[in-house]
Amino acid sequence: MKTILTGDRPTGPLHLGHFVGSLQNRVNLQHQTTQYIMLADLQALTDNVNNPTKVRDNIAQVMLDYLAVGIDPTISTIFIQSLIPQIAELTILYLNLVTVNRLKRNPTVKTEMIQKGIESHVTAGFLMYPVHQAADITIVKADCVPVGADQLPMIEQANELIHSFHHTYKTTIFPIIKAEVPKIGHRLPGIDGKQKMSKSLGNAIYLSDAADVVVKKVMSMYTDEKHLRVEDPGNIEGNTVFAYLDIFDPEHSKVEELKLHYQKGGLGDVVLKKRLIEVLNTFLEPIRIKRLEYAKDIDQIVNIAVEGSAKVREIAASTMQEVRQAIKLIY
Ligand code: TRP
Repeated sequence: MKTILTGDRPTGPLHLGHFVGSLQNRVNLQHQTTQYIMLADLQALTDNVNNPTKVRDNIAQVMLDYLAVGIDPTISTIFIQSLIPQIAELTILYLNLVTVNRLKRNPTVKTEMIQKGIESHVTAGFLMYPVHQAADITIVKADCVPVGADQLPMIEQANELIHSFHHTYKTTIFPIIKAEVPKIGHRLPGIDGKQKMSKSLGNAIYLSDAADVVVKKVMSMYTDEKHLRVEDPGNIEGNTVFAYLDIFDPEHSKVEELKLHYQKGGLGDVVLKKRLIEVLNTFLEPIRIKRLEYAKDIDQIVNIAVEGSAKVREIAASTMQEVRQAIKLIY
């Protein structure tokens, strides 16, 4: 059986983009695989150095989202990165196997450094987070990581570290990691029509958004800027409302009818948006109800991840024992 590890930085509640890109997948995979889900609080700190409280508070928010969408903590092991000291230990060992220049060449890290304007004063902690991430994955000996395309350089770098570790210490204790990228089309654009839904772009619909917030966000959604009058033919390519309907409307034939009508002319954006509001609120309502129910005992919810961490610490201790044996640092 495959062993899967995925993770999220707990820096805010999760949105529909997370659902389409990974949460849905995790709910399905949990029945067929051994699944670990990690709350990457230490990785979140690398760019929230001055805001640990934000990271701590969002552990609960992300947990609520996980449980509300149907991730079952009795079959998926949810844990907190900073509660597994062995991940930090393994990171230290990996750091000898990668050059600083290689770290600076990681395309995802490079893009992030430019976006954040920190190229000239990047911290060692930020630069090495891909190494830390390799330790996250290998500490439970995961052989599969379902990720978005932006995370592929992380898996490539993790596999380099695994090869280097095996080669240097003449061992084969870690499985090579396979990255599974969800199909294109499983990427949700933001409500502004931009390529990606993301918290930092401010274009997200959250799983925890109230019904009236969804109404406002959908009404502001990007459609077709040339579709000015109802009777005009409209464009469905790049039309965000149709992109969402394609994914969330269970009545596919109805969506096809709407598309034809829109392209012919005579179908206004408001009618279209009203349909999407109905579809999204029908989808989100049971998630909201469950979320509110779980939120009544927030300490217990965080405790689920603390208990999951105790379980992972045992597995991590056994991996580290093998690692020490391979390195022959045994005292
Ligand atoms: N880097 C991931 C993100 O930004 C989070 C993460 C940390 C992760 N460790 C991981 C993902 C290990 C997959 C595997 O979303």
